[in-house]
Amino acid sequence: MTVAFTLNNREVCSEAGGAERLLDVLRDEFGLTGAKEGCGEGECGACTVLLDGKPVCACLVPLCQVEGCVMLTVEGVADGDELAPLQQALLDGGGIQCGACTPGIVLAAGAHLAECDKPTRAGVNGALAGNICRCTGYERITRSVLAAAKDRELAAAPFVRARRDEPGAEARSAEGDTELSLPATASTTLVAGGTDLLAGGTAAWEGFRRSNAVMDLTRMPALKGVRMAKDHLDIGAAVTFTELRHHPLVCEHLPMLAAVAGMIGARQIQNRATLGGNMANASPAGDSLPVLLALDAEVLVVGAGGERRVPYAEFHTGYRQTILEAGELIKRVLVPLPKPGSRWYLRKVGTRAAQAISKVLFAACFEMEAGAIVRARLAAGSVSPVPLCLRRAAAACATQRPTEELARRVARLARSEATPIDDVRSSARYRSHVLARLVRRAVLSLQA
Ligand SMILES: Cc1cc2nc3c(=O)[nH]c(=O)nc-3n(C[C@H](O)[C@H](O)[C@H](O)COP(=O)(O)OP(=O)(O)OC[C@H]3O[C@@H](n4cnc5c(N)ncnc54)[C@H](O)[C@@H]3O)c2cc1C
Ligand code: FES
Ligand code: FES
Repeated sequence: MTVAFTLNNREVCSEAGGAERLLDVLRDEFGLTGAKEGCGEGECGACTVLLDGKPVCACLVPLCQVEGCVMLTVEGVADGDELAPLQQALLDGGGIQCGACTPGIVLAAGAHLAECDKPTRAGVNGALAGNICRCTGYERITRSVLAAAKDRELAAAPFVRARRDEPGAEARSAEGDTELSLPATASTTLVAGGTDLLAGGTAAWEGFRRSNAVMDLTRMPALKGVRMAKDHLDIGAAVTFTELRHHPLVCEHLPMLAAVAGMIGARQIQNRATLGGNMANASPAGDSLPVLLALDAEVLVVGAGGERRVPYAEFHTGYRQTILEAGELIKRVLVPLPKPGSRWYLRKVGTRAAQAISKVLFAACFEMEAGAIVRARLAAGSVSPVPLCLRRAAAACATQRPTEELARRVARLARSEATPIDDVRSSARYRSHVLARLVRRAVLSLQA
């Protein structure tokens, strides 16, 4: 298999094999060793490159997915021997010590300057949340980026060039109703953003490497795009969290979904990870899953036998198990528009804001009328083997006013429905306690 792409402004091709990691191809075949392997699982950002202008972790991208893409590595940033202004600012501002993280930081920060007219401290920190530096300390890095941003256009120029709108990029992200090809065999490996599949050392990654047949879902127009239907938003399974986070229809009608998209990993992960991948991966800690439960979503599944529409509440059948049969895939996710006046509440509790697997995530949607709750849907992640609908707690809210007494009762019920476990991230007791606190706060938030 020959994969052709633009690399630092040069047309190149590779025959390394579609399942090979982009990071290995860049380093071993093209001799571009600026992208480093720190963790091999998307956590550290040392392997960051720009793919069609967006920062991604090269350790999580299979070569087959870069066909026709425009790629920028740190080797393509400077102008000959002259460092780019952002690189010079990091040098001048003491934003570099050992330099292992620097290529990734240059690309992640450069992409941010290219897309943001008015860079702020918070914005820069958010853009760099997926890049770990073990020695400099982040303050100097942030200050250096902000110093470069004083002449933003100049600093952004090398990275804007990597975003150039060429027709290939448009075609790759287009949506449409073109016929959907189905997996050739039941054993075909489906890959979307690859952020679960390629995360180093997992059984899934080994399976992917051994797989004879791979199907790239990100190039299927039928799985892309967000559309307004009569009473719901119709979201393609291969829509990324970055797309969800910024999509005007999602931001306007389903702000809780846009908000959770911004809580997934960090920018490099959001740029690749898809909603369908989060659902099919079926981790009880998948962050979008309780939100889809609270929003009462449905799933459109397609396979050789045709399409079926399933309530999302029935999708997860056990620990990391779903209703998907061999050869089936998630095509679209249908999310009803909340009734006017509805309120929502969402909290993720993890070790830090970015790149953290949830200890608890709680999502709620309340239909309200004249200050009283008409109906509630409450759901939580990381507190049971599957993303959990808190049915008894939700039922107790119906037709009630959000008083302190109700908040305590609903919190007690939610706690009794959860079955959390002790693991490396948290204890069962802590999870139960946090869940009850969040539920209570959600009900009390309705008083405002
Ligand atoms: C550093 C890091 C941080 C992360 N942080 C978070 C986080 O904060 N919250 C969170 O929830 N997750 C997180 N994840 C996990 C991961 O990013 C998400 O689960 C993501 O949504 C997976 O989507 P993907 O497109 O990358 O899936 P892939 O890795 O491509 O696929 C995952 C699985 O789903 C299957 N699949 C994909 N799409 C479909 C489809 N349409 N139909 C049927 N099967 C399909 C694949 O065959 C595969 O088995 C993180 C991962 C990493 C590496
Ligand atoms: S090597 Fe750490 S994110 Fe890729
Ligand atoms: S400068 Fe050493 S890891 Fe960042």
